[in-house]
Amino acid sequence: MKLFIDTANVDQVAEIASWGVLDGVTTNPSLVAKEEGADFKETVTKMCGLVNEVSAQITATEFEEMKKQADEYSSWHKNVVVKVPMTVEGLKTLNYCSSKGIHTNTTLVFSVPQAVMAAKSGATMISPFVGRLDDLGMDGMELIQDIRTAWDHYNFDTQILVASVRNTEHVHRAATIGAHIATIPYKVFQELPQHDLTDKGLKKFMEDWESVQNR
Ligand code: G3P
Repeated sequence: MKLFIDTANVDQVAEIASWGVLDGVTTNPSLVAKEEGADFKETVTKMCGLVNEVSAQITATEFEEMKKQADEYSSWHKNVVVKVPMTVEGLKTLNYCSSKGIHTNTTLVFSVPQAVMAAKSGATMISPFVGRLDDLGMDGMELIQDIRTAWDHYNFDTQILVASVRNTEHVHRAATIGAHIATIPYKVFQELPQHDLTDKGLKKFMEDWESVQNR
């Protein structure tokens, strides 16, 4: 299973990369907007020096413009993955990128038919947004299970990337369902190594060791 961080902040990428657990980064225009003053190309290029896969989202909505942006972003660094929205124009762009050997991540996937369309158009990854389905009172992880079931019937190479992750339970279920990747916000990443019993157990070990020293 690959773990990505969902951020446009280079320091956060460097921190999690230093743990030795990080495979990639996903960014989106909303995350970029939070990092005031940062240059997008510079941010993406720096991240590409830290991890092997960095998703950079194109913002055009018509195929001809989307194609140009895909060409431009992919020229920045070999580790750039072009992030493409799940629209008809997006499908054309995914197909174009696939023919050019440009890696892609399809964003804003909310159904199995969308996932199948993206896979057939040659997407490298699909990003179903689980948290936003949870927000509507649904169970977003059921979509991941359904896509996994569909994937087990066919031979799609497209990787299932669990996005809009909001908590450690999402990561737990992504791993047990067999999603290829989860992209995780920094705050949730910091919670992943934690467990109350680990803290409690370590405290007891330290106390017992202290008593051995005082013999
Ligand atoms: O990776 C997609 C993610 O950035 C969206 O997350 O929390 O805005 O639904 P969220």
